[in-house]
Amino acid sequence: MATEIPTRKLYDDYVVPNYGRYEIAFSRGKGSYVWDENQKRYLDFGAGIAVSILGHAHPRMIAALERQARELVHVSNLYYTRPQGELAKKLVSIVGTDGKVFFSNSGAEANEAAFKLARKFGNESSPSRFEMITFHRSFHGRTIAGISATAQDKVKHGFEPLLAGFRHVPFNDLQAVEQAINACTVAIMVEPIQGEGGIYPATKDFLVGLRKVCDQHDLLLIFDEVQCGLGRIGNWCGWKEIAGIEPDAVSWAKGIGGGFPLGATWIKKKIVRMKDGSELNLCDLFQPGSHGTTYGGTPLACATSLAVLDTIEQEGLIARARDLGSYAKKMLNGIVGIKEVRGIGLMLGFELEEKVKASGKTSSQTVVLELIRRGLLTIPAGPSVVRLLPPLTVTHQEVEEAVQIIKTTLEDLIGT
Ligand SMILES: Cc1ncc(COP(=O)(O)O)c(C=O)c1O
Repeated sequence: MATEIPTRKLYDDYVVPNYGRYEIAFSRGKGSYVWDENQKRYLDFGAGIAVSILGHAHPRMIAALERQARELVHVSNLYYTRPQGELAKKLVSIVGTDGKVFFSNSGAEANEAAFKLARKFGNESSPSRFEMITFHRSFHGRTIAGISATAQDKVKHGFEPLLAGFRHVPFNDLQAVEQAINACTVAIMVEPIQGEGGIYPATKDFLVGLRKVCDQHDLLLIFDEVQCGLGRIGNWCGWKEIAGIEPDAVSWAKGIGGGFPLGATWIKKKIVRMKDGSELNLCDLFQPGSHGTTYGGTPLACATSLAVLDTIEQEGLIARARDLGSYAKKMLNGIVGIKEVRGIGLMLGFELEEKVKASGKTSSQTVVLELIRRGLLTIPAGPSVVRLLPPLTVTHQEVEEAVQIIKTTLEDLIGT
């Protein structure tokens, strides 16, 4: 009888080695827990990097997947399907401002649509403009446009020449933005709460200032809410939690499908004057033939997302994210070895003190590895920050369990 090839060996032999993976192979999940192939249980405070917003195997998500899979999985965007229209309506109501939605499959693609929107808007301006401002420590995805927009050298290295037309300035520094604006500038893209860069929320003054600057110079203000959006921070919208302003475009992915791949870009309904003197709504700039993707907004993806968003609403998960987030923050604040706790709702990060020594590559990797050994999954964000992104269905008790593991781990690593 043939013996089964171990999962790790399948990867070694057949999977491109572009990820630094931990030595665990997962086989199932339920609620806030996942089990590896040896049946060891882990408390999942990474949620697949902010994706599994309803935890694992949520009955309502399973029911929606099963129901829609029996009806219709895919037909292409050559045709209309009800779930795509319904989901677009739902997302427009979440933003609360008139607009329309383009569907894709990931955060990188949701941002790609935003980059192309900015280019198209800029090309319709007279004289035409193309340059976009993004911020230090940002992360906007791994396509060539995404890494060109991302202001972190580590993602750009080895892929030069990058796409022209992105200018990076310090985050939360309005003066730097004002100085960077020139005759070519057409848009500003910002994460209201930077995720990969280390959990840094934008200040209210900064976001309000960006809106003002965009209005003054006729620039598009685009929020990348791929990681922070749709409930995680205790509000449907990150920018609304921080500042009461209106964006021109928003990109989402990750939690929107609860684990089923989906990306979406909301575009505001506002009049744009074209070069030839005619007028068009910004949300109608993408006309047939200008942009698209085969899988974007399939009935299966959209019906699943609708069930995910309805569940967030009906189970009161936004308020729960807010309450449990502040509870976790309060408890983490007192722990030895933690220099600072940042974030909002259930998008949290703790910065490690220098005394937490790195036995591996960085102190955050050392802590994340030790937490894994003790049955808690977290995500590093830079060399000294550990991110907590649990499902919004997490319980009070699970938050206490995670904090206790973090506390004893740090105490043991520091040797107190
Ligand atoms: C803010 C932000 N934008 C874009 C992306 C890219 O999303 P994806 O990995 O789905 O392409 C990420 C992924 O971490 C992200 O955090």
